[in-house]
Amino acid sequence: MNVHRSPIASASLAAPIAIQRPRVIEFGAGVAGLAGRWAAEHGLSRILVIADAFNAARVDVLELKGEVRVFGTVKPEPDVANLDAALALAVEVAPDLVIGFGGGSAMDLAKLVAVLPSSGQTLAEVVGPEKVRARGARLMQVPTTSGTGSEAGTRALVTDPATQNKLAVQSLHMLADIAIIDPALTLTVPPAVTAATGVDALAHCVEAFTSRKAHPLIDMYALEGVSLVGRFLARAVENGADVEARAGLSLASLYGGFCLGPVNTTAGHAVAYPLGTRHHIAHGAANALIFPHTLAFNAPVAAEKTAAILSALGLEPSPHQEEVFGAAYGYCAKLGCEMRLSALHVPRADLPEMAREAHAIRRLLDNNPRDISREEILALYEKAY
Ligand SMILES: NC(=O)c1ccc[n+]([C@@H]2O[C@H](COP(=O)([O-])OP(=O)(O)OC[C@H]3O[C@@H](n4cnc5c(N)ncnc54)[C@H](O)[C@@H]3O)[C@@H](O)[C@H]2O)c1
Ligand SMILES: [Fe+2]
Repeated sequence: MNVHRSPIASASLAAPIAIQRPRVIEFGAGVAGLAGRWAAEHGLSRILVIADAFNAARVDVLELKGEVRVFGTVKPEPDVANLDAALALAVEVAPDLVIGFGGGSAMDLAKLVAVLPSSGQTLAEVVGPEKVRARGARLMQVPTTSGTGSEAGTRALVTDPATQNKLAVQSLHMLADIAIIDPALTLTVPPAVTAATGVDALAHCVEAFTSRKAHPLIDMYALEGVSLVGRFLARAVENGADVEARAGLSLASLYGGFCLGPVNTTAGHAVAYPLGTRHHIAHGAANALIFPHTLAFNAPVAAEKTAAILSALGLEPSPHQEEVFGAAYGYCAKLGCEMRLSALHVPRADLPEMAREAHAIRRLLDNNPRDISREEILALYEKAY
């Protein structure tokens, strides 16, 4: 293998970078009830909780007081219609506090619900970076999966059924005033979702770490996030009641969220997106299936960082691309992740169109450490089939 380091694979210490975080981050088993206390302290009493059905049934753990309404039908990988239904309720409630309570799907919708009615804009008007004019309500995020890190970030993703694309909205107005991260809320996540969301957190850290925009300020979180996944993901999949393992993954997910803001993901996520938008494969599951392929594809231009990733995961580093692939593939497969597109009922005839769609996601691919052509993405899908 031709191992050489890209001059842009590791940014210099002096490269400019800006960090934005929620003003308050509460972390720890049992902190969920602080939600109600924070709302009361800030005089907020018209509260709209945005949750999936599972979490809607246990809103009482947030110990909220005042007038609490719940939009409890967030769908996994929410689409525009799902958002519109939540927005309709927001117009009726006119909340002073919006709470995202669930996985990335609920938290992403909560971000948009906190800004769209009050800014007077439509979703189409805010797609892209920093288009949102204002936010009328406070925003609290309470994650119940360990994967997206959405609680710490400024992005929201909604699927447009017309184009099969993920519409990405990014705005500082969507940054939470407070994130309450209670690992105990994740004890109920089933093993398959634990594995998939855990690899999503891993992918955020790995892709940011190897990005052309990688920065030492973020590398620290990225590598520690990978190491936390290495220590705790298999344990949490094995025994969902392992509180220490759950806490380690909540932290890994948060660190992944820190990676997303200023650096963001690259080819792994871009190549995984069509699996979700066209074939409704859950975001984490799609990332797990693609992860070994893009890690190995990038290895020749990011040899040292790839070795550091494998070591942090507790795997054997190797200078050989096929061995990098094998180690990462074995890791995901052992967690129980489905690693074959055919087993997920993706029609083979769809692969060229998926490759075209993935290749068009320039906001992510332009930062991949190694250029990847449409043909190379197609070859990757064929290998994964
Ligand atoms: N904003 C960002 O930066 C960002 C980053 C990555 C992904 N995302 C988006 O996040 C979404 C995926 O989020 P996710 O992976 O967290 O999944 P999710 O929110 O769709 O939840 C997955 C499933 O787990 C259930 N669930 C949630 N918490 C549970 C719990 N504690 N116990 C039992 N079941 C529980 C949900 O009801 C749902 O059925 C996608 O739309 C993706 O595009 C956003
Ligand atoms: Fe992700």
